[in-house]
Amino acid sequence: MTHRPPHILGLAGSLRRASWNRHLLHAAATSVPADTTMDLYETLAEVPLFDEDQELATPGGPPGVRRLREAIAAADGLLIATPEYNHALPGVLKNALDWLSREGQVLDDLPVAVLGASSGPWGTRLAQASLRQVLHTCGALVMPSPTLFVAHAEQRFDARGRLCDPALQASLSRFMESFAGWIDRVTPDDRLPDVA
Ligand SMILES: Cc1cc2nc3c(=O)[nH]c(=O)nc-3n(C[C@H](O)[C@H](O)[C@H](O)COP(=O)(O)O)c2cc1C
Repeated sequence: MTHRPPHILGLAGSLRRASWNRHLLHAAATSVPADTTMDLYETLAEVPLFDEDQELATPGGPPGVRRLREAIAAADGLLIATPEYNHALPGVLKNALDWLSREGQVLDDLPVAVLGASSGPWGTRLAQASLRQVLHTCGALVMPSPTLFVAHAEQRFDARGRLCDPALQASLSRFMESFAGWIDRVTPDDRLPDVA
């Protein structure tokens, strides 16, 4: 008997069409271990600015929030790829996490891994630190290691957004294997039932 294969949801903290972080998640989705599946959440732009009045007026939250919450609830793990804006996580990502920290609390006890790509030399170290702080506050079970900081992102992907750096590809495959292991380690047995 083995556990049901885990499913990972990828969330990029950038709305940019040619986002390096979205490219990184696409590469991650093809780097998961054989018994793991992953897809990307593509409609973060539909999450409105957090507003407690709107929260009170719409039980269950606005449609863009409900969809995100449901996608996360259906996943066994969440992989967040964050850009770095002014040495912290971007506002669109923090905004979404603020919504998610409220009704449903889908981040509580959820296995999460963070990585990130930036054009700068430090590869989102500070953004990831601030993201981890927020995720811990929301009760997420954040994978402590390995870490993956992608610096000089413009050198890692080709013109079509495909990962073209073999060393980074190897690190990404190890990272995804570790995340699948982390999900298995921290998920209670009744959430990943055995299959024959
Ligand atoms: C408002 C703003 C602030 C930024 N601040 C930083 C920063 O503090 N450190 C850094 O390495 N890059 C910084 N950048 C560069 C982004 O990390 C870079 O544009 C990255 O590619 C964005 O991610 P994306 O390609 O997924 O959209 C900043 C970009 C913007 C637009």
